[in-house]
This record gives sequence, C-alpha cells and structure tokens, in this order.
Amino acid sequence: MSMALNAIQIQGLVKRFGDFTAVDGIDLDIKEGEIFGLLGPNGAGKSTTVNMILGLISPTSGRVLVNGIDMSKNPQKARNEIGIVTQETVVEAELTAEQNLRIFGRLYHIPPEELERDIDFALELSDLTGFRHAYAGTFSGGMKRRLEVSKSLMHAPKILLLDEPTTGLDVQNRTQIWNLLREINRTQNITIVMTTQYLEEADQLCNRIGIVDHGKLIALGTPSELRQRIGMSNVIEISADREALPKLAAICRKIGLEPKLLSNKVVAPGGARATENIEKVIKAISESKIKIQNISMHEPTIDDVFIKLTGSEARDTTGSFKSGRVGMMRGR
Ligand SMILES: Nc1ncnc2c1ncn2[C@@H]1O[C@H](COP(=O)(O)OP(=O)(O)O)[C@@H](O)[C@H]1O
Ligand SMILES: [Mg+2]
Repeated sequence: MSMALNAIQIQGLVKRFGDFTAVDGIDLDIKEGEIFGLLGPNGAGKSTTVNMILGLISPTSGRVLVNGIDMSKNPQKARNEIGIVTQETVVEAELTAEQNLRIFGRLYHIPPEELERDIDFALELSDLTGFRHAYAGTFSGGMKRRLEVSKSLMHAPKILLLDEPTTGLDVQNRTQIWNLLREINRTQNITIVMTTQYLEEADQLCNRIGIVDHGKLIALGTPSELRQRIGMSNVIEISADREALPKLAAICRKIGLEPKLLSNKVVAPGGARATENIEKVIKAISESKIKIQNISMHEPTIDDVFIKLTGSEARDTTGSFKSGRVGMMRGR
C-alpha cells in the first residue's frame, strides 16, 4: 500500500452549544485522493463537523488540519485549500452561469487571462456550456448544484467539501452530481469530502464512509467493509407483544440467527439462507403457539445498519434517515 498523505486530519473534535454536545470527540483522517462520505441522520452533527473543518465555527476542543495546516492557527491559508459547497450555497438567480463564475473568480483574485479559461473549463465540467448565457434562476435544482460545484473549484483547491450535495434532488439529478464528483476526483485528483443522509449514495460514490450519530463516529470503513458488518442478507422482522419478544429471540437463536430485541419487535439478519431461515422461524413459531402480529423479510436498510451497530432503533426525533427504505445498502 502506498503511503497516502492526509488531506484532512480531525483530532479529538468537540463542539458544544451550551449544554448540548453536537460533536462529541471525533478523530478521523481523510486521505488525499479519497471520496469520503460522512453519513448520518438529521441532527447527527455532520454540518457542525463540516463547519469546523472549514473554520466557520471554532471547536470547543480538538483541532482540524487541512493539508497539514492548522485551521485555528492559519485559517486563511487552510481555507484556501478547500472548495466549499454548503447546504446554503446558492448561485445568483439574476446572473447568468458565466457571470456567476466570473464574480466568484474575481473574489478569489484569479488573473483575467486565466479567469476566462477557468470559466470555460468550469462550464464544460458542469456540462453547462450550452447554458453559458442563461440566467441561473431558470436552472433546475440539479443544474444549480452543478454550477455551485464547478464554481467552488474556480480557485483550484485540492479538496472539495460538500454538505449534503444531493439532498432534495431527484434520482436523475443525483446521478449527474455523482458523475460530476467522480470525474472531478479522477481527472483533477481532488479529494472529495461530503456529507449525506443517503446510505445508497455513500455506498455508490464513496471509497470510505464514516457513520456519525449523536456527534460520534460509530463506524468507519469502505462500503464493502460496512456491508459485511451488517451482512448483505435480508432482515427478518417479527412484531409481537412485548412479553413474547424474548421467546421469539430464543427461537431465532436456536436457528443460528443473531436477533436484536426492539420495543415491539425482534429483528435478525437472515443469513446466507434467509428464505430458508424465515421458513424455519415461521414453523418454530407456529409449533410454539407464541402469538405474533407480523413476520416479514426485507432488504437491509439504514435502520438495520443502526440496529446492528448500536443495538437500538434509529430514533425519529428530528426525522431519522430520509426514506429509510430508499437509502438501503445494496450489493453491487
Ligand atoms: N448554532 C447552534 N446552536 C445550538 N445547537 C446547534 C447549533 N448548530 C447545530 N446545533 C444542533 O447540533 C446538532 C447537530 O446539528 P448538525 O451538525 O446541523 O446536524 P446534521 O448536519 O447532521 O443534520 C443538532 O441537534 C442541532 O440542533
Ligand atoms: Mg446538516
């Protein structure tokens, strides 16, 4: 293995807002050339982490190094290494695509002769050359996002950081953004760090994923490493009255499954022979005369990853994961 340099080093990062701890001691190295995904539900602490990486808010404790530059000691220099697409980033609706790029380029003091070349390149990269003179206000959500991405690269940063770049986009636009990010990563050799609520997105796009919940990094690995942790098998779910749950779990264990008890159901990865196993479970349940409400099998979802990793249900206070059934981890 080559010794990849660290694009971003996060060390003991903590952020408190009053009594509330939004980021709770994150240590993480992101390597040069990676597409890294920070995955987590609403309120997990993704944006707070991103804002500290960008030096937009200062950590309660811990530090961030960007290409070895300490963000708190040398924010100007460190920030210059990063292109930013935040959740709030917007293109100017009343300006054309070209004008949006030009203004941004001037902001970064790109010399005029370079600027024209950079604008051409940015338009080409975002596949918007044909819309050079169109007002950004007329663009679809996906086109705006693409313009934002290429705009953020105008000052030739080595790292691109995006906060939920595809949230709210439809499937087609999302795929286009994925392709754009892949291309930027591959052809420009730019390290990409992004946050997402979509497990599928992290799985398809990222070389490595860190799962955050309640401000903590609860899992870190390649998509296939994480998939192995949950197992690619289907998940068996049995709902029943509370008193029956331990008995149902015992039945699952007897068959060789590893059940988890939740508030009103037992959930178990079905294993390599999930269909066979669910049949065995059904047979055992009917023989035992335990009353159940429902038994079903489904593909693993983000909730299942959570159940597997934390042993508890993905809470639903601030909206849990967006459409859990969509965000499932699929094998490729
Ligand atoms: N400025 C702030 N003051 C108080 N609480 C905040 C502030 N910013 C974020 N939080 C809280 O910190 C938690 C993490 O927020 P955030 O980092 O935005 O999560 P995510 O981006 O993963 O959805 C949330 O509970 C949020 O309400
Ligand atoms: Mg956020």
